[in-house]
Amino acid sequence: AYGIVLALVFGYLLGSIPFGLLITRAAGLGDVRNIGSGNIGATNVLRTGNKGLAAATLLLDALKGTAAVLIAGRFAPELGLWAGLGAFFGHLFPVWLGFKGGKGVATYLGVLIALAWQVALIFALVWLAMAFLFRYSSLAALTAAIVVPIALFVLSTPEIAGLFALMSLIVIIKHRANITRLLAGTENKIGARE
Ligand code: G3P
Repeated sequence: AYGIVLALVFGYLLGSIPFGLLITRAAGLGDVRNIGSGNIGATNVLRTGNKGLAAATLLLDALKGTAAVLIAGRFAPELGLWAGLGAFFGHLFPVWLGFKGGKGVATYLGVLIALAWQVALIFALVWLAMAFLFRYSSLAALTAAIVVPIALFVLSTPEIAGLFALMSLIVIIKHRANITRLLAGTENKIGARE
């Protein structure tokens, strides 16, 4: 049980590093929470107009999930799952930002890469196809979040599928403002400035 708590805390601390906020601040672009959707993720960093910073945010927010799983998983495979869950929660509820973090999509993908890279590929294909067709990052993420647990129940273990079913549910809840905007036809398209 100590191992699980340690893995959760370790993952949480790694996941709570708000890369989108740190990167835009370091680039002198101010606080990303004051633009667009107010989110700290790569999609909103892209609304600053800087593609490189958005790509770096996506990469680092994903990498913290991958790293949490792989490092904790070296001690015992199931600890990797707990650390991945911790990283996801760290991104969503970082103590440093008064528990107001991101929506978890990149970190979700990072954890998925470490636990079932084939399904991470499915995520990427679904996301890219939806983004290409409709130009909404949120809609692409929501679709991928529905497909992934189903794919995992077929292709992976029940533990991993269950973990992602839980994280998908939370991703969807975190996107409720996006869902409202999508239904109202007022959601921001990818790359459109504020
Ligand atoms: O990954 C978050 C994305 O799905 C939506 O971001 O900034 O448009 O709310 P945003």
